[in-house]
Amino acid sequence: MKRDSTTATIRVAALLLGALALATGAAAESLEAERGAVAAEHRLASQAGLAMLVAGGNAVDAAAAAALATGVVNPSSSGLGGGGFAVVWKADERRAYAIDFRETAPRRARADMYLDASGKVDAEASKTGAAAVGVPGEVRGLASALARHGTMTFAAVAEPAIRLARDGFAIEAHLAKTIARDQRRLAADPSLAKVFLREDGSPKTQGERLVRSDLAATLERLAAAGPDDFYTGEIARDVAAATAGSPFGLDGEDLADYQAIEREPLLLRYRGATIATIGPPSSGGALVGTALAVLGGYDLEALGFASATYLHLLAETLKATFADRAYYYGDPAFIRVPLERLLSPAHAAEIRSKLRAASASPSSSFAPLLDAGSDAGTSHISVVDAEGNAVALTTSVNTGFGSALGVAGRGFVLNNTMDDFAAAPGVANAFGAVGSDANAIAPGKRPLSSMTPLILVEDGRVRLVAGASGGPLIITSTLQTLLAVTDFRLSATDAVAAPRIHHQWLPEFLMVESAVAEATTASLARLGHEVRALPPIASVQAIEVSQREGRRRLLAVSDSRKGGVPAGY
Ligand code: DON
Repeated sequence: MKRDSTTATIRVAALLLGALALATGAAAESLEAERGAVAAEHRLASQAGLAMLVAGGNAVDAAAAAALATGVVNPSSSGLGGGGFAVVWKADERRAYAIDFRETAPRRARADMYLDASGKVDAEASKTGAAAVGVPGEVRGLASALARHGTMTFAAVAEPAIRLARDGFAIEAHLAKTIARDQRRLAADPSLAKVFLREDGSPKTQGERLVRSDLAATLERLAAAGPDDFYTGEIARDVAAATAGSPFGLDGEDLADYQAIEREPLLLRYRGATIATIGPPSSGGALVGTALAVLGGYDLEALGFASATYLHLLAETLKATFADRAYYYGDPAFIRVPLERLLSPAHAAEIRSKLRAASASPSSSFAPLLDAGSDAGTSHISVVDAEGNAVALTTSVNTGFGSALGVAGRGFVLNNTMDDFAAAPGVANAFGAVGSDANAIAPGKRPLSSMTPLILVEDGRVRLVAGASGGPLIITSTLQTLLAVTDFRLSATDAVAAPRIHHQWLPEFLMVESAVAEATTASLARLGHEVRALPPIASVQAIEVSQREGRRRLLAVSDSRKGGVPAGY
């Protein structure tokens, strides 16, 4: 009885605080559609995807078009020089597929490549310049997704991106912010400076027209000569030349050898539904799996959405799962990830057994704080088409503008995904994430990722497509969006807009968005959490599918934290 009334009180408070949070905090752009929808992080990218659906293409065609367009209009977040993961749901087969187009370490990479003579990590070398670049996977990834599951050619899906790059577009707020933030890095590379900075070196600003002629020509070349040109042709030659300044740079062989890998999707069961996502070398899907296995043991709805009790439980679960990430996760081609154990009910039960008390253990390690400016580097796209196929695709150049190394004359930036490796055990990367030998650098190895593209399927039909950008926040933001829909029955719009928390084990802070009610934050601090402000830097793109009066309804949502707008018909 007592428990019930306490729960009821918490629920009412949570509802009120939730409403307040929605009124004052982050918002989401959403639209309803009947046939198909694309939720990308930029209006023009969503429209590029929609154009494929309207022309008779499927969800894979639309996702590829949206990804290429994102690389044009939000180049600080993703593009031809990056890589990622996609999960595809094929309605007719009632089955999911996964494509891993993550970057690989070049052949000349070495475990100690970022250590100086005294064994200290040179933190800048893995972030800026030629030594930071992994072999890009984006072009082979999209080409292989199209060949395997799409209906259109690379040339056809590249058409909207080519048009945007050739004709130009108005710079939106997010890109303007990232250009200003990275002005110094962009100025150091003439091929990037000429695109993103004015003649006097000042950053181009919101509303200014950006024409990307070099990139348009590159995309046109890939459309005409075929996407392989990126790996074996003229473009490959230029990519290798761009990194030639480093003894660890990539060469023609690295590019020619690069393969996108079709993997078995990671299938998670949660409260009767199936979630198709990506396994290692991303930690994202598996961490969501462990977290759901733990949280599935509780009646979350009874705790109340946005209640301190729920958020505390969530934070403790996240700590445990991110500790797993630091110790066990890496590229399965190089190390054995004990996935079966990490996803087992026994592991979940063990974590639950430790979750009773508030955690107030002193921070023994103070890894650098998550860079409050890191809201660029990654893009997520969710698509559902008229046949019920779906794609969740996340792609990245890692941090904003990647390595800030452009490919001269080709108009795109190269990733700095090598920073996702653990440069040394326990040394934090750009996102404060630590790793062990499991994620040590080795030639040909794929650095551990947090990308979490996922598709929730119920009774053989897609119910939710989701994923995010934001480094390790990708995992926690996608998980919170998923739980908001599954356990708290929020609409996808409210789920994306709702304030979030983040904990990644180390640094030992519970990060809380400002839209979380002050009273809740105070309760969390009383429970022993070291609470820090979490800037709104993760961006979720989601599509919810429901049935209303016998008709299918799509609710496509782009996160206002990054300014996206979905499209549908
Ligand atoms: O794969 C990863 O986990 C990182 N490269 C993602 C980086 C990221 O999301 C940057 N933020 N928007």
